[in-house]
Amino acid sequence: MIYQPITSFFKATLALIVLLSLSQFCFSQKLNYIPKKKVLSAINRNIEDATTQYKFLKNTIPKNKLPRTFENGRLITSNSDWWCSGFYPGTLFYLFELTRDSVLKTEGLRNLILLEKEQYNKGTHDLGFMINNSFGIANQLFPNKSYQNILITSAQSLASRFDPKVGCIRSWNNKKPGDFLVIIDNMMNLELLFNATKLSGDSTYYKIAIKHANTTMSNHFRSDYSSYHVLEYNTETGKPLLKRTDQGFGNESAWARGQAWGLYGFTMMYTETKNKKYLDFANHIANFIITNPNLPADQIPYWDFDVPKNPQTYRDASAAAIIASALIELAKFNKAGLATKYLTVAEKIILQFSTHQYKSANGQNGGFLLKHSVGSLPHNSEVDVPLTYADYYYVEAMKRYLNL
Ligand code: GLY
Repeated sequence: MIYQPITSFFKATLALIVLLSLSQFCFSQKLNYIPKKKVLSAINRNIEDATTQYKFLKNTIPKNKLPRTFENGRLITSNSDWWCSGFYPGTLFYLFELTRDSVLKTEGLRNLILLEKEQYNKGTHDLGFMINNSFGIANQLFPNKSYQNILITSAQSLASRFDPKVGCIRSWNNKKPGDFLVIIDNMMNLELLFNATKLSGDSTYYKIAIKHANTTMSNHFRSDYSSYHVLEYNTETGKPLLKRTDQGFGNESAWARGQAWGLYGFTMMYTETKNKKYLDFANHIANFIITNPNLPADQIPYWDFDVPKNPQTYRDASAAAIIASALIELAKFNKAGLATKYLTVAEKIILQFSTHQYKSANGQNGGFLLKHSVGSLPHNSEVDVPLTYADYYYVEAMKRYLNL
């Protein structure tokens, strides 16, 4: 009898050792992958061209505005409160990191001044996109206290939208009282919360990120690991009332960018927490995307996986760029077979983006890098145009590939 606790103690210790070694294996194995010469040389050319293009774009933007898209021969700009305002400076910083061209850095820093006030914006869930993808990158490249304070204040503003009963951060604001809308895109804003915990030591942000991701895992996904776009929650019960779309083809369809946000979001959850349940989940989402019979051979999805197709059906380069970047990250955490599958898809996307079909010629396309993205087809908004976030994740994907 007296030996029972000791035996249990040994069993528990042994289990812990096995678990720790397994988890070590899961997230620290070395990816033995040899990047393809053809892809590397395409990337080098693309980065050179992207630098030329973004300098061209810089010279067309009014100084108090941020670029948004280029439509019918006209540059469309936004103010800093538009959800995409962080992508332009973020892309400039990525390109600076790759080229050390100081013009890009100066232009990126100038844009941060326009964005700074958004740290106090509690009216949007998009602070991750706006602040983490701009100030977050600036802080990695040129760490300083002022950027860190802006990141923490932005995380406080984002966290103010969290409802413990629902277990989520509110995405869109109420149209009717009692509305609590959460979109799959919101997974992307959680990285800001993880960064705020690292910078401040306050675990509140980390816990909110985990809760939001877990609620999203339980409610936002179908059994095939495709996701709904919008969930309407009841704030009294905390339960979802309605699952639907806003930017997709139908309530039961798989809106391409939504699938991409989910893939990227759960990959990031694993990067940040090393909890294997997020790795498994991201792998399931990846499997839905890359084995989807409606994914064209060039791996650039139609704007919705379930839209009826004809030769005019639009592709969404932004979804492909996000998928490529996420798959390169996800490959790092998987065994060789799966990693190679993911990297092969990412390579195809990058190579396709290196052709004239998707890549803009210098001085064309308003200075944006990629053509053929879709903002929101049901709203007839930004259809078949360049978008700042397509450019951002495209450059990020190439940077991640070079880091392999
Ligand atoms: N978060 C908005 C979009 O993906 O269009």
